[in-house]
Amino acid sequence: MTEVGIDAIEIRTGNLRLDLPNTFAPQKGEDPEKYTKGLGLTGSSFPDSYEDIVTMAANAAHRLMERKGLEPEDIGRIDVATESAFDNSKPVSTYVAGCLEQVFEGDFHHANKGERKFACIAGTQSLDDAYNWIRAGRNRGRAAIVIATDTALYARDDPGEATQGAGAVAMLIDEEPDLVSLSLEQGYGSADETDFLKPNQQFPSVDGKRSVQVYLARMREALEDYKSVAGDIHPDDFAYGPFHTPFPGMVRKAAVLAYRNLIRDTDIEDVIGEQIGEQPRRDEFADDDAFVDALTDYTDALSETERYQHWYSATIEPTLGIAREVGNWYTASVHLARISALRHAAENDIDLAGDRLLVGSYGSGAQAEIHTETVQDNWREEIEALNVDEQLDRRYDLTFAEYEDVHDAHNHDMDTETEELTTPESEFVFDGWGRMGERKYRYVE
Ligand code: HMG
Repeated sequence: MTEVGIDAIEIRTGNLRLDLPNTFAPQKGEDPEKYTKGLGLTGSSFPDSYEDIVTMAANAAHRLMERKGLEPEDIGRIDVATESAFDNSKPVSTYVAGCLEQVFEGDFHHANKGERKFACIAGTQSLDDAYNWIRAGRNRGRAAIVIATDTALYARDDPGEATQGAGAVAMLIDEEPDLVSLSLEQGYGSADETDFLKPNQQFPSVDGKRSVQVYLARMREALEDYKSVAGDIHPDDFAYGPFHTPFPGMVRKAAVLAYRNLIRDTDIEDVIGEQIGEQPRRDEFADDDAFVDALTDYTDALSETERYQHWYSATIEPTLGIAREVGNWYTASVHLARISALRHAAENDIDLAGDRLLVGSYGSGAQAEIHTETVQDNWREEIEALNVDEQLDRRYDLTFAEYEDVHDAHNHDMDTETEELTTPESEFVFDGWGRMGERKYRYVE
């Protein structure tokens, strides 16, 4: 069977940066270590006043197409995943295609365009849709562009404010991919939840503490479902585990639970058992409370073992590098985690070809998906072509007053404008409103 997966990938960050420990924490009267150690974040990417989900998506896709030498006729599908859309009818992908048609000769008139919504998991769902379209043989030899783009903004003073972010990841999905192929097997954990939602409002209503528990519950179900179709898996089967990363502290919580699940009934459980005992099993306890207490104690002890800490440093920590500097990019977050991991391998001269990734996507509301990916032979060349550091380094550092102004400028309920803090160059920018209330864009040379 021909492999299908991600052939190439690009990112686009918002052009501004909010420093959490040094600029945000003092204004909130919080200890900077709450952000750096607790949440695991040093900064958030933020959009300048001329940036939005369309400009970031189009800028990422433009670089992707130019770098791969693609023309519009090579693309049969443009899917955008976002939870920051501004139009309930016209999909963001039409705006993105309109932007790209300003800079390429041809057009996308025969490409299927759509928009996917299911909180942060929609980026992975779009990836799955493109995979299925190619697998079904309906692509006429053409590739798909999947873009995950979000301005992950919270209301001012919401606890989620510290986890904000803004950026896009564009992916080229094709047969015989250069970066990673996707497994046929998938596992899902899905339930009707009200932990995080935006009922016709720009900023989310969030039950933050509960959202953390819902994330963990759905991920566990997805892992079990994956194992039910793919068979048992072992933690050492995977080079990296890129998970949805609303903030790195969330992944720290998820990782130990995933490890506990994966080592059950394996040689690792036996080896670790010599230090901390075997994992508690439900049938050994009279009631649920006693079982949960024993499991919590075991998990705390597990997280302190050298074996676990070594696995975490090698398999999970490298996935968090970019998230620490940019915050939550919602639909793009797990795709940034994959890039972080592969960049880490390239920088440390680790040979990954043929290795597997355990990918955990999550979206509030709520659904998790687990699938695996196999790293392809040309992965290094692909990853080394990205300009992630350049993009992160050139962001403009906001003062707190500037942050307040630019947050207001992006607030749909406020009629305020603010001066641009950066000068656009070789990029798409928001250019005002059209006669039917549509957004207009132009390319700045
Ligand atoms: P909070 O109440 O401000 O923070 O909000 P906290 O008091 O819980 O502290 C956070 C962590 O920092 C804690 O660590 C503290 O102990 C630690 P934990 O105990 O949980 O391991 N801490 C410190 N550490 C070191 N030194 C210190 C210090 N002080 C505190 N001085 C909350 C946290 C997550 C609730 C908030 O950020 C929030 O509401 N975020 C938005 C919701 C969210 O991201 N949920 C995550 C799961 S849901 C999800 O991922 C989906 C999502 O991406 C949306 C989608 O799918 O569309 C959000």
